[in-house]
Amino acid sequence: GLPVILDCDPGHDDAFAIMLAAAHPAIDLLAITTVAGNQTLAKTTLNARRVCTAAGIKGVPIAAGRDRALHGIAPVAAGIHGESGLDGPDFGEPVVPLDPRGALALTRDTLLAHPVPVTLVPTGPLTNVAALLLAHPELAPRIERIVLMGGSTERGNTTPAAEFNMFCDPEAADIVFSSGLPVTMVGLNASHQALATTEVVARFAALGTPLARICTDLLTFFADRYHQVFGFPVPPLHDPLTVAHLIAPQVVRTVPAAVAVELAGLHTRGATVVDLHGVTGRPPNADVAVEVDADAFWDLILDAVRALGSG
Ligand code: BDR
Ligand code: CA
Repeated sequence: GLPVILDCDPGHDDAFAIMLAAAHPAIDLLAITTVAGNQTLAKTTLNARRVCTAAGIKGVPIAAGRDRALHGIAPVAAGIHGESGLDGPDFGEPVVPLDPRGALALTRDTLLAHPVPVTLVPTGPLTNVAALLLAHPELAPRIERIVLMGGSTERGNTTPAAEFNMFCDPEAADIVFSSGLPVTMVGLNASHQALATTEVVARFAALGTPLARICTDLLTFFADRYHQVFGFPVPPLHDPLTVAHLIAPQVVRTVPAAVAVELAGLHTRGATVVDLHGVTGRPPNADVAVEVDADAFWDLILDAVRALGSG
């Protein structure tokens, strides 16, 4: 399969990205790295181990990365993901180990060891990826592309202008978008098309496995918070769209565009300024997700949970 390193901050939707990447035969999940975002680094790291334990994902090294943004602030999103960062289900004690190398060394070693360039899939703030590019510019040729969740062609969810992952670490995001590497941006304008409807949740429940129960508990908690905080009737599942796009590109349709990250705006710091109509004359530096095939997306997620739950 396609070699991938997933860099995440689980996080309800990150958990589904982990499961899809681990389960689908088109993906070879080489490593999972964690970053502070939805909760503290200690909690997102514990959560990655919890998800892998619950889903029976073994042999994928997990390492902890940066505990704060490049600008020094440590983010959390307890209002959306709860105190644990993964509130809702009962998780047992994680049994999968933590790789002692840390995210930077694990990523470096993995990129160097793999015979072909590796795709990076960041689904949290871009701190770890930016830190890698700053510390090891010589490794850029070993990165095939970066397929990230963050930003929007429209408006934000953390400030009126900025999406959470971008808002947490705009300088890191700017480094990634300016890196010259191929970047695909899956933002809120796309992920808000991937809604966990009551029919979708019922399909998880019908699987009947312990893992499916965890998934329904995750989605139910997420639905409550999205309803309370944003007034959404049903919640979007952002992060696994990145992995779905790698598996089946047509599930998330993209268009090339110039993307700039606002670093200085008084009210707009962390906004992604996406030139969909080419008015700036700047050459495209990203492929930007614009349209999601939600039915095909949920089929992929359901298949992954079914496969992991039976294994
Ligand atoms: C992003 O922010 C986080 O809360 C989610 O896990 C997702 O990565 C959505 O804005
Ligand atoms: Ca995330």
